[in-house]
Amino acid sequence: MSAIQIQGLRPLCGSVTVQGSKNAVLPMMAASLLAKGTTVLCRVPAIADVYAMFGILESLGCRCSLSDGTAVIDASRVEEVQIPEKFVKAMRSSVMVLGPLIARTGEAVTYYPGGCVLGKRPIDLHLSALRSLGAEIREAGGMIVASAGRLRGTRIRFGFPSVGATENAVMAAVLAQGTTVLENCAREPEITDLCGFLNAMGARISGAGSNTLTVEGASELKPCRYTPGADRICAGTYLAAAMAATGEIAVKGVEPGQLAEPLNVMRRMGAEIETDGKASGIRLRMRKRPRGIVLKTGPYPAFPTDLQSVFLAVACTADGESRLTEEIFEARFAAARMLRRFGAQIRLDDRTAAVTGRSPLTPAIVCAPDLRGGAALAVAALAADGISLIEGCEHIERGYEDICRDLGELGAEVWTIKQKFG
Ligand code: EPZ
Repeated sequence: MSAIQIQGLRPLCGSVTVQGSKNAVLPMMAASLLAKGTTVLCRVPAIADVYAMFGILESLGCRCSLSDGTAVIDASRVEEVQIPEKFVKAMRSSVMVLGPLIARTGEAVTYYPGGCVLGKRPIDLHLSALRSLGAEIREAGGMIVASAGRLRGTRIRFGFPSVGATENAVMAAVLAQGTTVLENCAREPEITDLCGFLNAMGARISGAGSNTLTVEGASELKPCRYTPGADRICAGTYLAAAMAATGEIAVKGVEPGQLAEPLNVMRRMGAEIETDGKASGIRLRMRKRPRGIVLKTGPYPAFPTDLQSVFLAVACTADGESRLTEEIFEARFAAARMLRRFGAQIRLDDRTAAVTGRSPLTPAIVCAPDLRGGAALAVAALAADGISLIEGCEHIERGYEDICRDLGELGAEVWTIKQKFG
């Protein structure tokens, strides 16, 4: 288990280039199954979830490699249709392999991914969309067995704009016979990016960025070379870090438009933000403690649930009261228990956290409860008057290529401890 130590109360100063987007890359890796041949993805972060997806693809017969940010996936031969249970349990987003695997082979066997610290995480919307496209899906004993001839275009209206279900349906529909119209889709930038990738493979998807996608089924797709967008959640994490520590930083490579609502929240909390509209990034200056905030998470373009934990950490050191309401996941306040070790004053009531900020926070020894909760603990440590230790950083490594490197480039005093046992 790896751990990191952080010296707090050091204003940040520096710039960092943001890694490629985890939540754009993972569906693209799954979508590489749709083309016989070798797909090349650039700006791929070397994170645990990417390697887990490699494991899934290799278990299906693909050959995968990652070097200097370039992933090469040879999906010429897909000889297996069963996703090993160990990968499903390790990474919930393995469910997004279902759609492309059924579209490619006509079969797929997987398992219920199970809940996680964020909540139950059902996949009913995924399965109902695939059934609507003509897949026969049987569920028994935690297993999911899917089979289909060629999928057939149809009209699907999602009961909730689920990111994963939208992605699964699109990746199944691109090889279906006829046209598929998807309504009430999620509109996250990662879905727009996925549609761009699929169209580069020869798919015909229109409406990307809106809540209605139209997919003209193709008979086959060709592999391609593609560069996904930057990780807006990593960018938002580092901007939140500078708000907690104060200072002046720049995050490069991210499109400011993808963070419009978080930037509004940062301004309301007292940050000075400069953007020039292109993907050259965002500059933030924080001269003093942030002000308290009231925010609610929601489907894009609302405030993203993936930044709720890190802004909860900023609220813990803010001047005044804050209220954060989590509308996407029913249990995404796991970080609160660990934030209290920093002296944070957080009261939880169902889906709302009420916070009374204080500064400085107290250095603490804490353990990351999940990916974004772990990042939140690093943000809180930057506002603590001393050295803090964050254990369980394997959670953080699922989504951040090297949070120590990136925070260090922003001027934070942070170092990794590889704890050896036995
Ligand atoms: C994606 O998860 C992201 N993961 C999550 O990021 C992100 O938090 C989430 O979208 C919301 O933006 C990836 O892209 C790999 P959802 P996903 O389906 O697709 C309910 C991170 O930290 N739901 O939009 O699983 C579900 O329970 C991760 O990077 C159903 O009820 O999210 C939740 O309450 C965490 N039935 C809500 O919808 C379904 O079939 C949103 O889930 C599917 C989802």
